[in-house]
Formats: sequence, C-alpha cells, structure tokens
Amino acid sequence: MFDREQQAIESKIRAYCADNDIPLADLKWTPIPFSGEWGTSTSFFQTAANEARSGKKVNVPQRAQELAESVKAGLGEIEGISRIEAVKGYLNLYFSTAEFAQRVVATVLEEKADFGRGRPKSERVMVEYAQPNTHHSFHIGHYRNAILGEVLSRLVEFAGFETIRASYPGDLGLGVITVLWIYDKFYRGQEPEGIHERGQWLLKLYVEATDLLTEKENETPEEKAQREAYDAERRELYRRWDAGDPEVRELWRVTREWSLDELRDILRMLDIDIDVWFFESEVDESAKEIVDELIAKGIADDERPEGAVIVKIDEKLGLKKEKYRTNVLLRSDGTTLYLTKDLALAKIKFEKYGVDRSIYVVDVRQSLHLQQTFAILKLWGFPQAEKCYHLGYGFVSLPEGAMSARRGRVVLFKDVADEAVRRVLAEIAQKNPDLPEAQRADVARAVGLGALAYAMLSVDNNKDIVFDLDEALGFEGRTGPYIQNAHVRAASILRKSKTESLEVEPATFDYELTSHEIQLIELLSRFPAAVEQAADEYRPLVMATYAYNLASAFHSFYHAVPVLQAERENIRDARLQLVAAAKQTLANALALLGITAPEVM
Ligand code: ARG
Repeated sequence: MFDREQQAIESKIRAYCADNDIPLADLKWTPIPFSGEWGTSTSFFQTAANEARSGKKVNVPQRAQELAESVKAGLGEIEGISRIEAVKGYLNLYFSTAEFAQRVVATVLEEKADFGRGRPKSERVMVEYAQPNTHHSFHIGHYRNAILGEVLSRLVEFAGFETIRASYPGDLGLGVITVLWIYDKFYRGQEPEGIHERGQWLLKLYVEATDLLTEKENETPEEKAQREAYDAERRELYRRWDAGDPEVRELWRVTREWSLDELRDILRMLDIDIDVWFFESEVDESAKEIVDELIAKGIADDERPEGAVIVKIDEKLGLKKEKYRTNVLLRSDGTTLYLTKDLALAKIKFEKYGVDRSIYVVDVRQSLHLQQTFAILKLWGFPQAEKCYHLGYGFVSLPEGAMSARRGRVVLFKDVADEAVRRVLAEIAQKNPDLPEAQRADVARAVGLGALAYAMLSVDNNKDIVFDLDEALGFEGRTGPYIQNAHVRAASILRKSKTESLEVEPATFDYELTSHEIQLIELLSRFPAAVEQAADEYRPLVMATYAYNLASAFHSFYHAVPVLQAERENIRDARLQLVAAAKQTLANALALLGITAPEVM
C-alpha cells in the first residue's frame, strides 16, 4: 500500500549505510496496529549484530538505537508520512490516518480481483492433490484432500508463483485387482447408469469382495475351501494383469475409467482443474529403470537373489540415530513398491516439468513414506529435494464414528454435498421466499458447498475433523455462510445506494473514524500479507482465519455504523467506498478458499 514511500525510505537507509560502511541487514517491515494512527516499523538490531560480528566493538541494542536515530535524522520530510520516531532500536513511521484510509480503500477498488496478488516469482511450483485410488469412490476424506490442495494451489498462484496442479491416482495393486476379480466373476457385462452410481458401485463391489475373501470366525471347511479358491482366482488375475493379458487389461482400463469419470465430475463441481494427470501404473516401468541407476550410484544395495534391492537411508545420509530406516525398492521377484514409484514420479516432476518446489497434499499417515522419498531424492542429488514439502492432513469422521472402506462404512462426498444443498434450499424457502426461483439453485449450491469447504479449511490441517453438517451450515460462528453473509450484506448496501460511479473519485476519510471503520481498514490493508504468509507457510488456515476476521469486522461495522444514513454526504461516500472495498476483499479471500461469494442469499 505504501510501497512507494517504503522504497524511498529503504533507498535512503541503504545510501546512508553505504556511506558509513555499515553492513545493513535485510530490512523487514511490520505494520503498527492503530493506536491513534497507523504505522510501519523496522529495526536495526540485525545490522548492529552484523557490525558486532565483523569485529567492531559495539553494544547491540545501543548501536541499533544509534542507527535508528541517525537514519531518522537523514530522512527529512516524506510525503504521506506524518511522523518518524526512533525508539529502542526501531524506526517507526506513522501515516496520516485520513491518507492511510484513503490509500487502502482506493488500492482495493483499483486493483479489484487482483488486490493482494503478489509480484511474479521465478520459481515453478507443483501441487499434487486430488489423487484418490481408482476402483473406489470419493469419500469425505478425499474431499478434504482436494479442497486443501486446491486452496493451496490458489494461494501459491496468487502469491506469484507459476503453479502446476497435478493428480496421481493409484490405479494398481491388490485393492484394484480385488474389484476386477468380483466383477469378472459375478457381474460381467453389468454397468449401472449414471456417473456417480457407477463409480459408487465399484466401492460396493470392493466391500462385497473383501467380505468373501476375509477369513470368518467359525468357518466351516466348505466355507474355508471356497474362500481359498476365490483367493487363488484373485491371485491368478493379478498375475495375468501383471503379464499384460489384453482381456484383463481391457477390463481394468474400462472400470478405471468409471472411477475417473466420477472423480472428474466431482472436481468439476468443486471448480478444480488439474493440469497434469500422473498414474501409478504409468510410472511403474520407469521406476524399475531407476532402481538400476540407484544401484550404480551406490545409493541402493542389491541383495538379490537372496534378498531385495534396498536403500539404507540413515546410513547413506550418515545419520547416527534411526530416522528414515531402511527401505525396499525392488522385491526379489522384481516388482516395485509404492516408494519406488514415488521416486520415478518425482524425477518426472523435476525433469519433465521443471518443478523447483514440489508440494504433496497427502494423508498424514503417509508422512514417513514421503520423508523417506524426499531423503532418497536428496541422496540422489536433486537440489529440489530440499523444496519438497508434505502437507499432511488428519482424518475426517462423522459424529457417529470413523469410516472404514473395507467394511463399507464410508461417507461419500456426493451424498453430503447433495444433502447440504437440499438443506439450504429448504432454508431459503422458509427465510427468503422472495428469492426468485431461478436464483435459488445457484445460491443453494454456493452456500451448501461453501459451508462444506469452510468446515474443512477452518481446522488446522494436522487435526482430525469431526464433521457436523448442522454446524457447518450455521450462520453464526466460524462457518462459510457467516462469511458469505458479510459479502451479501455489503452487496445489499451498495445496491440500495444506487451510486454507479463509486470508483471515480477516491473518497476522503478526513472525519473521525469509528473503531469499526478502523478495524475494517486495518484488516483490508493486511490482506496482501495474509496471502503471502499463507502461501509461504503452506497454510490454507491462515486465509480461512483472515476471511472470518474480515467478515466478523464487517458484521460489526454493519450493525454499528450508518452508511446510507450517515450524517454527512462526504461520510456517506467514504463509507460506501469502504463497503465496496470490504466486499471486494471478502470476494478475493473467498475465491482463494474456493468458495463462491453470492450477491444474495
Ligand atoms: N493414491 C494415494 C492414496 O490414495 C495417494 C497418493 C499420494 N501421492 C504420492 N505421490 N504418493 O493413498
């Protein structure tokens, strides 16, 4: 907001330090919260410490204060800055309140949907998420993954990084073969109608097959023989799949497509657009080749034919204590493991897609696996290994208990989403019957899905979520609808004001601002920093919290401060612009959270 002033001051500080041979440290600025006026502050402790380290005899706090004072003396008058202070090693700059308010509001109204966007960065980031296994169905845990990954992608992109969205579904392994087996045995030729029905059916088949293949208590000899016969068939099918039997491969390909159709439809619904699709089955071959390379480089040890190909990660890294342990890369029968495929995948990400930073949004239970992957990439010599990051996330369960795919106790995302939208529709019919029929469906969707998204995002990603639909749909507290409602209220004031030329002239804020206006302006001014922080720390929660705080400040303002009925024309104009700026910033924050900002609800 005050970039120009800040840069002018920075260059003066730099010049001063250069003239006096002072090793200036990076200048960091922190906003000073309103206490009669707004300001920004930087300190000279690091610079003083640099001097001390370079051999000069200095007392760091005292020297920092000296530097602050000399810099202050050299700055003179600066336009837009009302006062400069050097205290305890800090240089504090204060802005004229009216000017600050005007600048913040005008910036938002000028930059609109780009308000808060970071300057382009040189690094390319890949975010991998929305990668459920096929031959399964999309449950609410997958939803948490998808929404976290999408929001992270939006944040990183908005912060200025070139961003690639990637998915990596697991499409092979025993679970997949289990579904193929039962389909082939009992359901050949059948195919439910409807993308979701068909996708969900695969999960039902999986549950049924697992039941047939699991040992029961008090099994009769006949039952045991039957189960073992089934298992032998499944093994035979796996062997044929592995050998590339065209019939089995075709069945696999077709049913895999059923899962992917369902996944793609859900992603469309969530406004998620994946740029690159990787599949486990497609990296299997290159994974085998990599193993030879790792053996040749002395990273992996080949203990075949007695044993397997392994990597003693701790030993190779020279770690004394056990941290990453030892991993198998190739079984003695020559098959790869999940880890091997992840190495192949990472190589493709780095080399084919030129990724500098690689983020994996994956269930927290795979944490060790990913740390092992990153450690091996480091041994392998990839500089990007240092910039691999695992964004883990916890379980989602319902108040009635945990999910279990094997037992068929799964909460499907589609069911929850449909129910959420249904309930919002019912609520609209009751509370806002004047809403035109044509708009109802859109609003219900925006609010229903917004509530679900916010329920996932407002909890720290590492914590488990007990998901309660009633709570998520509430208009009070930390919910999506609460934030959307702030946007709706702002929209309604602006509609009633009937001013068309809001952005033409920046309003002047040269009246006594209420505490509500101050709070609101301060939050608006902090949006760009919130974007940067959320992206830097890979924490969608930072943005979720910001959006809630802004909504809450707006609701308070709305209740306490007259806008259309303001006592003077110029105050009315200024407040209208503030409302427009708040609306815009709420919309920007909600967009980053993957939530629609409705005009009415
Ligand atoms: N498909 C896996 C699962 O559902 C997640 C993939 C995670 N990504 C990775 N690169 N390993 O558990």
